[in-house]
Amino acid sequence: MFLDGFAGPGNYDGGEPGSPIIALSALIDHSYFATLGQCEFVFVFNENDPDRYRCLEANLKSFQASRSPWPSNVRVRPSNEDFAVLAKRLASHGQSLAPTFAFIDPFGYKGLELQDLADLLAADRCELFCYFDFNSAQRFATAGNVDGHFEALFACEDFKKAPPAGTPDRGEFLIRLFERQLGKVAKFNHVQSFAMRNRMGILGHYLVFATRSLTGLDKMKQVMWKIDPRGGYSFSDRLAGQEVLFGDAADTRPLRDALLHKFSGMSVPIQEVIDWVVAETPYHSGHVKRATLKPMEDDQLVSAVGRSRRGTYPGGCTVTFLSR
Ligand SMILES: C[S@@+](CC[C@H](N)C(=O)[O-])C[C@H]1O[C@@H](n2cnc3c(N)ncnc32)[C@H](O)[C@@H]1O
Repeated sequence: MFLDGFAGPGNYDGGEPGSPIIALSALIDHSYFATLGQCEFVFVFNENDPDRYRCLEANLKSFQASRSPWPSNVRVRPSNEDFAVLAKRLASHGQSLAPTFAFIDPFGYKGLELQDLADLLAADRCELFCYFDFNSAQRFATAGNVDGHFEALFACEDFKKAPPAGTPDRGEFLIRLFERQLGKVAKFNHVQSFAMRNRMGILGHYLVFATRSLTGLDKMKQVMWKIDPRGGYSFSDRLAGQEVLFGDAADTRPLRDALLHKFSGMSVPIQEVIDWVVAETPYHSGHVKRATLKPMEDDQLVSAVGRSRRGTYPGGCTVTFLSR
């Protein structure tokens, strides 16, 4: 199931598609879609504003009409509710909820309860992709007048301990708290935040992805790395205090340092190295071999056994890292 909890009108005045139309197109225009006839896909698009909901319904209908005959294995379910009400109702399905990718894109920080997300997405194969309104969190976390909303968002009161407004660590404290709470309350063991910057390099939002699957995490990172920074915004994350800017030409120096630090003097199966990179750094599996280990080998920082050619790292080989 694809659940768009704050779906908006579907299309905008300038003809720009909103998230529901983007999601549907992504599936039915996918080159594999024709091979997935046995799979049932359910799209729930929820919008609580009555006017926007009417637009959403109309836009979904005309999109489906434009793709006639509509595939019978793709069900489209618009819904006109407060997200909290919908989430609680769906959560009553508990572990029987179909594998769900929940996209949560509210305005600001209101109307979003971490406990609802935790209950809704408790089944193993559910994932969350969520906007975190960093600017509002920074502005209001210790203001004292909207504590109820933040208690719901973080499912704790630790946001009150954020460093004072105007200090550089305040934002970092709040996003890391949100990530930690997704792990603790919603039991997502992989949480990855992508800082979204505008053309001026100013941080606007975080996009936060939470999953229990290392493969899911790897796929999401590959997508985020691919997004063209010339599209008006870019993504970044930090590794050991260094900014890692996502883009076509990956700068893998922070990864090289992190690998040497983590595995200094050790011999490690290649799959273990890849899994660590995916789980613990902003990089994905495609950054490990040619972009990082090979140049490290050229610099005599690593060697490997269990392979036939130098500079390659096939499954089953073991990589030895120089002692620091
Ligand atoms: C940021 S917009 C979503 C934009 C959408 N994802 C898109 O790409 O077009 C947030 C939407 O959530 C709706 N909304 C606000 N509070 C809500 C709530 N409690 N439950 C459901 N929808 C809500 C708003 O009316 C608005 O249309």
